[in-house]
Amino acid sequence: MQKELSVIAGPSSPNLAAKIAQDLRAELIPVDVRIFTDSESRIKMGDVKKKNCVIVQSTYPPADRHLLQTLMMIKKCKDDLAADICTVIPYMAYARQDRVFQDGEVISIELIAKLLETAGNKRLITIDIHSSLALSYFRIDVQNISSIPLLANHAANNIKLNRTVVVSPDAGGIERAYEFAKILGSDTIALKKWRDRNSGEIFFDDKLECNIAHRDVVLVDDIISSGGSIVKACQILKKNKADKIYAMCVHALLVEDAAEKIRAAGVQEIISTNSIPSRYAKVDISPIISACLRS
Ligand code: R5P
Repeated sequence: MQKELSVIAGPSSPNLAAKIAQDLRAELIPVDVRIFTDSESRIKMGDVKKKNCVIVQSTYPPADRHLLQTLMMIKKCKDDLAADICTVIPYMAYARQDRVFQDGEVISIELIAKLLETAGNKRLITIDIHSSLALSYFRIDVQNISSIPLLANHAANNIKLNRTVVVSPDAGGIERAYEFAKILGSDTIALKKWRDRNSGEIFFDDKLECNIAHRDVVLVDDIISSGGSIVKACQILKKNKADKIYAMCVHALLVEDAAEKIRAAGVQEIISTNSIPSRYAKVDISPIISACLRS
């Protein structure tokens, strides 16, 4: 028997949850959150007994708070004896700590995977998780959906591009850039980037594999956080005489003044999905999440 579907609007993603509920003609369950003076969260939501629950909560900063609220909502569903618990975490925090880079570090995403499962989460939907290694720590059913076709179609339909080159700021993102470039029918290159693990500083090789002079560039990354990668990538691209530069990403964390720094570096426009709400979130991922839930 088909159970009733309830979309739970996590405190970090109420608008996305509302769109998904509307797409699926599902009941939308609001979550009341209160942040105490000591910074702890208290959540309150309606009864979901015997319902198929879909919790929508992106774990962008404050990441720890949003993660803990996710665990609280899962616990509430479990305590209510929900028929099923599926969590939609469009931006999965801690996925970049997917290995031990330096002795003494903890593989954070492995712990997050265990916590979600232990709390009672049965399945997970995420968008462009940072790496397949991060994904490998989950033992529950996980759907990692690519939003790259949506981003590429947005670029194709909304930006006037000339002799485009799609550029990944690092070798790790080349598959993403290929997927994007295939839709635009353009060339692709990856910059050579490396990081000093002690200082966190990043460096780029300024020699490129192809001539980008007087061509428009779309920089494609999964995450823009401090903006450091995009700013330095811009310097290399400008040095190689790129014309217009656009920065597109899935998850625009854009911490502190990252957006201003990126614009100052010469980027025409920053465009992201709405995995994280912001003024740059111009690409709506709710249709791909709803389609995944439907199937
Ligand atoms: C790194 O591997 C990621 O794909 C992004 O390039 C990185 O997280 C961006 O961070 P930031 O904006 O701080 O340079």
